[in-house]
Amino acid sequence: MVTVDGDIAVVQIDNPPVNALDRGVREALASALARVAADAAVRAVVIASAGRTFVAGADIGELERAAWSDGVGPDLHPLLAQVEDLAKPVVAAIHGTALGGGLELAMACHYRVAVESARLGLPEVTLGIIPGAEGTQRLPRLVGVEKALDMGLSGRPIPASDAHASGLVDQIVEGDLLAGATAFAREQLARGAPHPRTRDRSDKLGTPGQNAPAFAAARETARKTKPHIPAAALFIDAVEAAVTLPFDAGVRRERELSAESVRSEPCKALLHVFFAERAAAKVPDVTRDTPALPVNKVAIIGAGTMGGGIAMACANAGITVHLVDTTPAALDRGMDAVRRNYAASVKRGRLTEAAVAERLARITPQLDHKDFDEAEVVIEAVFESMELKQRVFAELNAVTRPGCVLATNTSTLDIDAIASVTSRPERVVGLHFFSPANVMRLLEIVRGGATSPDVVATALGLAKRLGKVGVVVRNLPGFVGNRMMFPYMYETQFLVEEGATPEQVDRVLTRWGMAMGMFAVDDMAGLDVAWRVRQELGHFRDPSVRRPLVADQLYAMGRYGQKTGSGWFRYSPDVGGGRTPIPDPEVLDLIARTATDAGITRREISDEEIEQRAIYALINEGVRVLADGGALRASDIDVVYVNGYGFPAWRGGPMFYADRVGLRSIYERIAEFHRELGPRWEPAPLLARLAHEGRTFRALDAELAERTAAPASA
Ligand code: COA
Ligand code: NAD
Repeated sequence: MVTVDGDIAVVQIDNPPVNALDRGVREALASALARVAADAAVRAVVIASAGRTFVAGADIGELERAAWSDGVGPDLHPLLAQVEDLAKPVVAAIHGTALGGGLELAMACHYRVAVESARLGLPEVTLGIIPGAEGTQRLPRLVGVEKALDMGLSGRPIPASDAHASGLVDQIVEGDLLAGATAFAREQLARGAPHPRTRDRSDKLGTPGQNAPAFAAARETARKTKPHIPAAALFIDAVEAAVTLPFDAGVRRERELSAESVRSEPCKALLHVFFAERAAAKVPDVTRDTPALPVNKVAIIGAGTMGGGIAMACANAGITVHLVDTTPAALDRGMDAVRRNYAASVKRGRLTEAAVAERLARITPQLDHKDFDEAEVVIEAVFESMELKQRVFAELNAVTRPGCVLATNTSTLDIDAIASVTSRPERVVGLHFFSPANVMRLLEIVRGGATSPDVVATALGLAKRLGKVGVVVRNLPGFVGNRMMFPYMYETQFLVEEGATPEQVDRVLTRWGMAMGMFAVDDMAGLDVAWRVRQELGHFRDPSVRRPLVADQLYAMGRYGQKTGSGWFRYSPDVGGGRTPIPDPEVLDLIARTATDAGITRREISDEEIEQRAIYALINEGVRVLADGGALRASDIDVVYVNGYGFPAWRGGPMFYADRVGLRSIYERIAEFHRELGPRWEPAPLLARLAHEGRTFRALDAELAERTAAPASA
């Protein structure tokens, strides 16, 4: 771990995959530093890391254990004091990412150098915690209060160039990092002592008067953007301690605030989501040895809403795209939409013109199958029709190479029926992207009866390459997400028939934390789309099942939602660009009339009832999905809902939330609904069993992980 180059010692951290500062690393670093401190031949020290990154942070596994106990995480203070108090200059040499505890370690060094591609940040707030290793005290000393608040509240890492400009990094190294860091250390030796200790600096801290506006603005931002995450406000308090207290007292304050954040409920939920997203990539029969095709060339059939979005997602990830449609007009429409989307990103300052040009150049619009034999993956996104899709797949079977993965973006159709027209059903898989496909992180990877493990591995690899989370689901109607959404959607419609309003329901849901209310979602996705999916999935074929009465009428009236200017709500181009729901008295009348005609008693409905009926409907169906093997584990369902359906991450997903409320209490309430509201509320048998046994989904997942503890995958 320690190598000596003349009078410079290089201490290298090597803890794959991301050099997390776990106990072993802390102990090894401490003993390496003690050795170099005692070695008279060593005059300066470089701390660097092996592998793909500097240090990605404290060990999140240790943090999770703290979150479920007393909130006190690993103690990095002795190590940081050892670094900062070393009588020889210490230089952090940063590549990849210096995040959280990694950046805190780097800030305790006397100097920091980084390669241009490195990124530095304090992402803790995204996990519901605040930095607990002096980061809130050192960052404002290095970059000033305003910048520190911005970095900690957004959690977004900054590029090395920005870090250099703001004083976080002392030098950008071109070429070999270690050589550059060693040369930099020699320069500092030549310059002579003293070498700056960050704790001693106050030149950037400012006065209370100067800082007041920055703290006020930060508190406003925290209130608006992260109202449910206590860590946001606690972070600001900790930075305030940096400017009002001496360093050691500030550190003590940070430690208290950090423990408070770690103990908070949103922290448990966000840590759950972090590990759940990574667990989703683990599939029992897909191991490290399963060969995944590297994907560099993709063909997309259909240049409509989804095809265009998928093309952008691929082009953004550096993948070459052939985008196919049937007529020049359809192709032009598709490419125009892609260009408009990119132009909007340039306008918002998210992309440069040059970056857009590069991405557009990766997309070739075409009417034929030219170069299809070079594609590793073909993604079909034509209209939702089995007959059409089968025709397309039969053609693809003929024009692609044998190993090519043939994927469909269907939302409702049976993958096996589509695969059946090919000579290689084992190469066929569902890749269910969500709209807008270039934005939404979720990708349901639908495994057909014959889909082979290497196709699943390729799909998981593609998801990662596109910056998405892939969740492997079974080929059951509605897969996971939509299957669960319908009972939830219908329940909200029953609630309005019984006396609530769409506005009240949506207000309750968004206050609860959903990104959008169910009625606004329906209006955005299109009531025509929901109507078609209802037919396709065969809901309400059984006449004894209660069916919602209003949606069909709105559909018949051509009120398809945002796209027609009216649906459950009204839309006006002058209000929020035609996207803001405006309550519509006509709809309220229609609902009241329809309900009365159907003999439904109307009453006032409490917010609590709305919340429970909506969310518990989602949970009960989620349990059925799990019991049917629709998802591999409960946490996969959480990942689907958090990333594809606007479920609040700080509540951990529907299954995690159910655990936290208590399965017994959820079960009893559902059983009550069953008695009061009829057979659709029959408690899922697995829920009844777990409630009875006093178990949780989390425990169930942990048992499963233990049983299948096999080599990790993809
Ligand atoms: N502690 C413990 N394990 C960590 C970790 C951390 N700080 N960061 C990542 N890991 C693990 C992941 O759980 C995953 O484990 P697995 O392979 O068993 O599933 C593995 O490292 C790879 O992580 P992954 O996120 O898949 O790799 P990536 O290359 O896509 O991303 C990072 C790398 C560093 C950007 C990303 O892992 C990340 O953001 N980590 C968290 C950083 C953070 O929040 N740090 C602050 C903590 S104080
Ligand atoms: P769309 O109507 O916007 O686009 C379909 C495109 O396919 C059109 O441009 C059409 O010209 C083209 N097309 C039709 N037949 C073709 C053929 N034989 N060869 C090449 N192109 C052909 O539809 P969309 O909303 O993009 O949906 C596409 C698929 O994605 C559907 O299966 C849908 O269920 C699914 N999906 C849609 C959404 C969504 O929110 N829109 C979300 C997930 C999945």
